[in-house]
Amino acid sequence: MDRKHRTENAEASEFLDQDALNEQLDQQQVSSRIPGFYRLPVERRLAYLARNFGFTDNQISQLREGKALRIEHAVNMVENAIGVHGMPLGLALNFLVDNREFLVPMAIEEASIIAAASKAALMIRQDGGFTTRVDDPLMIGQIQVLDLEDPEKASKLVYEAKTEIIKQANLANPRMVVRGGGVRDLETRIIDGGEAVGKMLVVHLLIDVQEAMGANMINYACEAVGPVIEEITGGRVNLRILSNLADRRLARASFKIGFEQLATTEMSGELVARRMVEAGRFAWADPYRATTHNKGIFNGIGAAALAIGQDWRAIEAGGHAYASRDGQYRSLTDYWIEGETLCGSIELPMQVGSVGGALNSHPGVRILRRITGARNAREIAGLFAAVGLAQNFAACLALTTVGIQKGHMALHARSVAISVGVPPEKVEEVASEMIRRGDVKVTVAEEIFRTMKQEQQRSRERTGEVLAEAYAPGKVILFGEHATVYNFPGITAAIDIGMTVQIKRDPDGPRFLSPKFKQAFNIPESDQDIRLFSKAVDEALEIYDLQREPIGVQIESELVPGMGLGSSAAFSTALCIALRRMKDGSHTPSMAGDLFEHVQRLEKIFHGAPSGMDAATVISDGVLWFRKGPPREIVPIHLNQPMAGIVAIVEPGARTIDMVRRVQASRDLNPKRVNAILSDIGELTSDAAIALGTGDSVEVGRLMFRNHQLLSRLGISTPALDESVEYLLDLGVLGAKLTGSGGGGAVIALVKPEEQASLLKKLEEAFALVYPFTVRA
Ligand code: MEV
Repeated sequence: MDRKHRTENAEASEFLDQDALNEQLDQQQVSSRIPGFYRLPVERRLAYLARNFGFTDNQISQLREGKALRIEHAVNMVENAIGVHGMPLGLALNFLVDNREFLVPMAIEEASIIAAASKAALMIRQDGGFTTRVDDPLMIGQIQVLDLEDPEKASKLVYEAKTEIIKQANLANPRMVVRGGGVRDLETRIIDGGEAVGKMLVVHLLIDVQEAMGANMINYACEAVGPVIEEITGGRVNLRILSNLADRRLARASFKIGFEQLATTEMSGELVARRMVEAGRFAWADPYRATTHNKGIFNGIGAAALAIGQDWRAIEAGGHAYASRDGQYRSLTDYWIEGETLCGSIELPMQVGSVGGALNSHPGVRILRRITGARNAREIAGLFAAVGLAQNFAACLALTTVGIQKGHMALHARSVAISVGVPPEKVEEVASEMIRRGDVKVTVAEEIFRTMKQEQQRSRERTGEVLAEAYAPGKVILFGEHATVYNFPGITAAIDIGMTVQIKRDPDGPRFLSPKFKQAFNIPESDQDIRLFSKAVDEALEIYDLQREPIGVQIESELVPGMGLGSSAAFSTALCIALRRMKDGSHTPSMAGDLFEHVQRLEKIFHGAPSGMDAATVISDGVLWFRKGPPREIVPIHLNQPMAGIVAIVEPGARTIDMVRRVQASRDLNPKRVNAILSDIGELTSDAAIALGTGDSVEVGRLMFRNHQLLSRLGISTPALDESVEYLLDLGVLGAKLTGSGGGGAVIALVKPEEQASLLKKLEEAFALVYPFTVRA
């Protein structure tokens, strides 16, 4: 992999501000339908998220380890902090809400919740998804006024001073007012506190909190108007606080589902729908059932709220209170039948924010918010209502058909597996097999685990067996580097040193095995390089649908990475060919088919936006004329006889992106001079194509040196590269130049074939590494 070519990665985006986050959410639409997600090992699930959301390695490892919230953050969030508490985190899929895709991260310790929500959302999306209706974000702040002789009169006075009270309340939150929010209205209630307290006046401020959950600004407003209200009423103000019964800020979700989706082997869809309605009425009529019914709703909403940093206690408290609004505690959902469909709906207060709160203090919350795809508080509220309804639908569906314990079978099977000593990474496999057999018992778990271990042992004995292998060459740029950026032509050649990729049997796979590279220098960023190789392996496994294969990918490379010798393109090509061979026995690597596209997908991981020149050269294994275009030109150049060359590794390379920027900067400073150099390189490259075609190696050599001089004038050579070229010319080579983006790296020389071997011997002493190569006819 060319370390120099690596583009800036997204590390900097980790601490995006909230506007940037919302903008990102605006643009992103990742489908929430991810078939087979639950079957993927956790590493592959994370790789999927990294790819689709552009998360950095650091962010992914924060998710995996639950370490996004560090103790340094925690001490600033609560008093007497002693640590950070962990909780399983999963992703509910399939949510289509108002025709938008949403993924729902859920932090919860109870099994089956995430699977149930995903399953319900999948059924519902098949009939059009959820529709929501969310109120404006109007919250209530309460001011308790006591010791009033005449509460009715006090209430009247408050109404008369309404404009002044609202003005004072808004002065406490000037930023909220600037953002378009603030106190909208005021209401009073007279309530009886009983013998000990008597009648009291309660003033409600109705506050538009915009994108916030709002608790702080409501409390500020209430505290600010306390003295004003005391003065107006002559009473004594006691409590000044928001109400979590946010019944002016309701969220509603609904769906319709055809009978045919509800049918089971034992029951018709219509019967299931009728039973759902009966279940709904049970919860409407009986507080004992309603409490469990609503608990199920908050299994979903609470888990999602916790994951994305919402105040789940407020949401639950508001929900339960709203469920009792007519004096009896009732269900929050409703089910009814219309024609051939079952309809479901939910309505509850939803006090959520897209800014502030944990979003400011918890880096993990920011990552998870991005995953949801919810762009603002209104969408979060609608999504949560849909999640609550999905959860309730799933629970009632199980209760009305197979019963909830069957749904909990997976959990039971897992605990049986754990009880017989199955290690955590194998629990799922043993549990699934017991469920598949319909026999969840200790003896069965033992038997499955024993067989599994024997199979593993047999597989271990065959570990390392090579299942497929492929080789791909490296490349050099013969002419035109840097000028190609400005749409002049370049000429590249595959060289006869390269890289072999082996796919080996590996029970701990799929994974990238420690690579064997030829190294000229210590490469300080090699950890990062290994991660890029691993990511490319992930991508390739996905392309060829081999994500669950017990295989290891091993590379053995003659190419020094980071020298412009095309090691990432060689790796990507050899990997794709090897995986294809393993999968279907294909032995015909060619530009035909999808190989170029596949290699480019892997090259993107290394280079961000690769031109395709390296991939095309490596795949064609020949000499290519390349022009970026559009239209892009990739044309093979046929030599009438092979030419011999030598690559000499001189010094560590610079990053391509830095060298491209350097040329750009000097072109901005002195366009006339730099354009003239670039255009000379372009012309010389055209002449070189003719000289290569006619086999005029003397002319090719002359043009190579001329190209080097022009690159030197561009400012991308170094003293060591210049000296190396001079040294090679003194030894009598036909031509020599730096190759690649410059700033260090390698030089190439064209030599007479009969002198190649003796020159190599001499050069071995002078350079860190030298390789012969042949430009094939
Ligand atoms: C369990 O956590 C939730 C349920 O009891 C909800 C319900 O009964 O509707 C299954």
